[in-house]
Amino acid sequence: MWFWWTLIAIGSLLVVIVVYDLVQRKHAILRNFPIIGHFRYLLEMIGPELRQYIVTGNDEERPFSRDQRRWVYASAKQQNRYFGFGSDNEMETTDNYLILKHDAFPLHLPHVGELGYDPKYEIPCAKILGGYRRRAKAFRPASVVNLSAMSFGSLSGPAVEAINRGCLIAGCLHNSGEGGISRHHLHGADLIWQIGTGYFGCRDAAGKFDLGKLKETVARCPVRAIEIKLSQGAKAGVGGIVPAAKVTKEVSQIRGVPVGVDCLSPATHSAFDGPDSLLDFVERIAEETGLPVGIKSAVGQTGFWAELARLMASTSRAVDFISIDGGEGGSGAAPLAFSDHVALPFKVGFARVYRMLAEAGVQENIVFVGAAKLGLPDAAMFAFALGCDMIAVAREPMMAIGCIQAQRCHTGHCPTGVATQNRWLMRGLDPTDKAARLANYIVTLRKEIMMLSRTCGVIHPGLITGEHVEILNGRYGSSSISELFGYKDNALPGTSDRDAIEAEMKLRENR
Ligand SMILES: Cc1cc2nc3c(=O)[nH]c(=O)nc-3n(C[C@H](O)[C@H](O)[C@H](O)COP(=O)(O)O)c2cc1C
Repeated sequence: MWFWWTLIAIGSLLVVIVVYDLVQRKHAILRNFPIIGHFRYLLEMIGPELRQYIVTGNDEERPFSRDQRRWVYASAKQQNRYFGFGSDNEMETTDNYLILKHDAFPLHLPHVGELGYDPKYEIPCAKILGGYRRRAKAFRPASVVNLSAMSFGSLSGPAVEAINRGCLIAGCLHNSGEGGISRHHLHGADLIWQIGTGYFGCRDAAGKFDLGKLKETVARCPVRAIEIKLSQGAKAGVGGIVPAAKVTKEVSQIRGVPVGVDCLSPATHSAFDGPDSLLDFVERIAEETGLPVGIKSAVGQTGFWAELARLMASTSRAVDFISIDGGEGGSGAAPLAFSDHVALPFKVGFARVYRMLAEAGVQENIVFVGAAKLGLPDAAMFAFALGCDMIAVAREPMMAIGCIQAQRCHTGHCPTGVATQNRWLMRGLDPTDKAARLANYIVTLRKEIMMLSRTCGVIHPGLITGEHVEILNGRYGSSSISELFGYKDNALPGTSDRDAIEAEMKLRENR
C-alpha cells in the first residue's frame, strides 16, 4: 500500500512543479522544458566540482591545476606529496616554461638527526623590515613566506582563527586584510595590519583616517608592521567589496557599517592623493607607532612608481616595504572584467616596478613582497629570482584549510566554511585541526624552497638570481630571467644584507 501512496505523492509533486514551471515567467527554459529544465540549473551549480573531479586533466583547471591543488592538500595533511613516473609536462613545446638551473655540486639540506636539521625549515628574510629608515620597531621577519591579506568578513571567523593559529605554529606573519582586526585575528600570531580606503579600525565617524584610533589598535594588538593598501590585483581601482550576504552583525560592528548591505570601500584614499603625500603619511604613521610601514599595490600605469622612486632617492622619506600583487591574484568578490583584464600579471608588473626602483638606486632599501599564485615552490623561486625578499600567499593557504576551489566566495555559500558567514557552513571548519594543516603547508613550502635554493647552490632563496632561472620559449630556445626582464644587475639584497643572511644561515646549520 505504502508503495502506491509514495507513487501518488511523487506524481502530485511533479504535477505541481510542471504547473509552476508553465505558469512562471522568469525562466524561459522552465516554461519550455518543465521539470527537465531544472537539471540545467543543478548542473550549472555543481559543474565546477564535477569538472574538477571527473573531466579535467592534471594541468587543467584554473586558478590552480589539479596537480597544484594535490601538492597543497598533501603538504597540509603531511601525506605523500611526491609524483611518480616523471613529468607529464611538454617542456620543449611549452612557451614560458620555467627551468631552475641546478649546481653540479648542490648544497645538502640536513635530514632528521643530522647537524643543523630544522623541523620548521625556518627561512628568515634577508633584509630587516624598517632597517633602512631605522624604525624603532624594525625587525627581521622570521619567515620569507607569510599570509597575504584576507579580511574577516571575506573569510569566516573560524577560517581567520585557523590561519592565525597556523601562523603562530609556523612562525610567520598574518596580514589582517583591509577589514580591520577582529577577535579571530588574536590567537597569538604576529600581525601585519592592512589599512585600506575604508580605514576599518582607524576611522572616524565620517569614515576618514583617525591617527588616535590607529594608535589605540596598535597598542591593543600584536601588530608588527602596517600595510597601506593602494590596490589589489583582482580588482585594482574599485576598492573593497564585501557582498551583503556576508555583512553580519559582527562584521558590521568591526567595520562600522550597516548589517546586510554591500560594504563598499572607496576606490581611492582620502588621507593622501599622490606619492609625495603618501610618503608623508607613511612617515607620520611610522614616527607615531615606531612600526615599519609599507604599501600594497597592483601595477598599472607607471607614473606613480617613477615619482615614488624619484622621491625616495632624493628625500629622506621611504616606504619600508612594497607588496606587489598580480592581476591574476585572488579576491573574495570582484567584477569579472577587473579580475581578468585590469592590472598587469605579477611577473610583468613586479619586474617593471623593480627595474624603476633599481634605476633610481633605492631597491636595496626596500623589502619586496610578491603575491599572486606564488605559494608553490617553483613559482616562489621565480619570485625570488625577480628580486622578491618575501612572498605572501592567500588562496593556497585557503586550500590548506579546506577550500576546494568551488569559487563561491562572492555568494556567501562557500561549501567548506572558509569564505562565508553562514553559521551552518562555518560549523564544519575546526580551527584547531585546520591550524595544524596551515602550518604543515607553510613549513613544507619553506622546505621545498630551501631544497630548490640549495639545488642551485645557494644557502638562502634571497640569493637566487635571474641567472639561476631560465625560461624556455617552446621553440627550443631559452632566456635567463635577467635577459627576459631587462635587469641590469642580479636583483640581490645589498652586500651587508647578503653577508648577514649568509652568516645567519651558516650559524643555523651548525646548531
Ligand atoms: C578571499 C580573499 C580575500 C582577500 N582580501 C584581501 C584584502 O582584504 N586585502 C588585500 O589587499 N588583498 C586581499 N586579497 C588578495 C590576496 O591578499 C592576494 O594578494 C591575492 O589573492 C594573491 O595571492 P594568492 O594568489 O596566493 O591568492 C584577498 C584574496 C582572497 C582570495
